[in-house]
Amino acid sequence: MHLGTVIQERKSVRKFSKKKPDWRDIIECIDVTRFAPMAGNNFSLKFIIVDDPKTIQKLADASQQDFIATAPYVVIACTDSTRTVNAYKERGEMYCRQQAGAAIQNFLLRIEEKNLSTCWIGHFVDSLVKEALKIPAKIHVEALFPVGFDAENKKTRPLKIDLDNILYFHKYGNKRMTQPKNEMDV
Ligand SMILES: Cc1cc2nc3c(=O)[nH]c(=O)nc-3n(C[C@H](O)[C@H](O)[C@H](O)COP(=O)(O)O)c2cc1C
Repeated sequence: MHLGTVIQERKSVRKFSKKKPDWRDIIECIDVTRFAPMAGNNFSLKFIIVDDPKTIQKLADASQQDFIATAPYVVIACTDSTRTVNAYKERGEMYCRQQAGAAIQNFLLRIEEKNLSTCWIGHFVDSLVKEALKIPAKIHVEALFPVGFDAENKKTRPLKIDLDNILYFHKYGNKRMTQPKNEMDV
């Protein structure tokens, strides 16, 4: 599939069919996270794949989002920021959040390409997720991803913001492509 099509067709799915994907496909989706840019080329992420229904139920409870329990798998993305913080001090934690986002987008695009479905889950009680998965205290849980096949196959997707609302030229706030002659033109 063309990259532009994968980017535009990716969407969050919150209802999964009973059919279980091949776990090797999910591993392939995690594999492509390794190619994301990382500050100093220090890879800070770890991933956990879970398919035990009782553990998945705990993750749904920890997130207060019942639909997670309908997924045959949940992938958990975590960060060990030790090396990045050692190298970049106070900017290190921010770099870890940014590179987690970059790596996660690779994951999401491969999921789409493989005809799998997921939803980025950022709302959860950290301590409950850590307890369920025996994640050490110093590890940061970035997000959870219930993974399966889309049960609804809705063609519609959320409306996206217009480019006009996010793009400025030459300086913040200027929507004209031409250079402003003076401050009043902006
Ligand atoms: C940081 C982050 C946290 C999110 N947390 C949740 C969440 O806890 N539950 C949920 O259902 N969706 C969550 N989402 C998914 C967004 O709601 C979704 O991406 C957005 O509505 C746009 O829809 P789309 O992904 O289909 O383009 C999260 C997305 C991001 C990037």
